[in-house]
Amino acid sequence: MAKAKTIYYCQNCGAQYAKWQGQCTSCKSWNTIVEEVVSKPKERVWSDSNLSLEQQLKPKVSRINDISYEDEERVVTPDLELNRVLGGGIVKGSLILLGGEPGIGKSTLLLQLCLQLQLSSLYVSGEESSKQIKMRAQRIEKTNENCFILSDISTQNIFNQIKKIKPELVIIDSIQTLRTDLIESVPGSISQIRACTAELITFAKETHTPVILVGHINKEGHLAGPKILEHMVDTVLQFEGDQNFLYRIVRVKKNRFGPTHELGIYEMKSNGLKQILNPSKILISNHNHHLSGTSIAASIEGVRPLMVEIQALVSSAVYGTPQRSSTGYNAKRLNMILAVLEKRAGFKLGAKDVFLNITGGISIDDPAIDLAVVAAILSSSHDIILENNNCFAAEVGLAGEIRPVPRLEQRISEADKLGFEKIFISKFTKISTKPYNIEIIKLSSVSDLIEHLFN
Ligand code: TYD
Ligand code: MG
Repeated sequence: MAKAKTIYYCQNCGAQYAKWQGQCTSCKSWNTIVEEVVSKPKERVWSDSNLSLEQQLKPKVSRINDISYEDEERVVTPDLELNRVLGGGIVKGSLILLGGEPGIGKSTLLLQLCLQLQLSSLYVSGEESSKQIKMRAQRIEKTNENCFILSDISTQNIFNQIKKIKPELVIIDSIQTLRTDLIESVPGSISQIRACTAELITFAKETHTPVILVGHINKEGHLAGPKILEHMVDTVLQFEGDQNFLYRIVRVKKNRFGPTHELGIYEMKSNGLKQILNPSKILISNHNHHLSGTSIAASIEGVRPLMVEIQALVSSAVYGTPQRSSTGYNAKRLNMILAVLEKRAGFKLGAKDVFLNITGGISIDDPAIDLAVVAAILSSSHDIILENNNCFAAEVGLAGEIRPVPRLEQRISEADKLGFEKIFISKFTKISTKPYNIEIIKLSSVSDLIEHLFN
């Protein structure tokens, strides 16, 4: 008998090897290479047409001018937050990946969506039995004639059911539990994830049915499985909780059909997820303890906008040499900022202890938080409370000038979305005059800021 064909995959980055090795030469991680049995698919699993496989796979070339084009058709859902995040609804024929920690509410969000939709939908769960899903539906207190539930993990069975009931939306919970009979490796392995996703993409594109996949995330917070999964789908959404885990935020990491800086905010109630259409309420209730020395920076972490709270404490030095300590912010940069304040704005901080902290234990490299750091230091040293609906996004230069930062519009829309009322930015920035609710205040130097804050 011919030997089964095996390939060695790095579970971390998806690199392929002909034989086993301890370290992946591509991503440098150790012990991530596993053997997987792969047999070449001889037939396609999803096939609706009568054409032979060869005919179906025949490449077609067309002139770009001959390709007819219509605006994407979208399914507008009753979930306003989801609609906004997706750029106006679910695009027909698109594949959406929803990732998130266990227990964050991915299954709840999607079941709720199926129960609210006017269209027929199929909710496939590889993790829970139909009874468990029914119990969840009871908890959400909604019901729908057109919502079908299937508890299965084989793509062949799933496609057979789809052919019968012809749903207009398919949910797969989760992609890591699916398996196709064409490949022998276990569910959740890289080759299975890749093959099942490819089958679902063919199905979605041929029938114009949107498919939403749930994706697990690993302990580093990345989507489990190969990065290629994120490349294959049209949209990647991330479902995450805030620090105190009361609110749930859906962020877009990738969207072929819409913006990538929108976010949707929900609250987990005892009867499902509730949309929060006025997020400023959360902020105000979170910040009712007015204290001096606190400011909010509109920063960007990787590709995602993030509002961070900066706390500063300025006090008279007890010892001869004043202490400077910083958590989450570059200590050299803190010294530079203090020197700038001393030299350019006449603040005598030379004999003061200065402690700086970014709350939540995170560390930020983004120079755009400089202005918020300056504001927090000034607020603490003068014991003046900053308004809690103000935020800052600018770099501070050695001459005390306020410098522009990249991706400002994304920062402004995040602050706007989160309900802030004023954002301080550099005067030297060119931004399009989009209608924001937030007031934009442009500053040219540190002394401008002092004038604004202390008058
Ligand atoms: P779940 O949706 O199963 O999360 P995931 O699919 O992302 O793992 O879990 C949601 C959590 O929320 C679970 O711990 C139970 C809780 N929950 C509520 O508080 N209210 C509800 O109405 C429901 C359905 C779940
Ligand atoms: Mg789940």
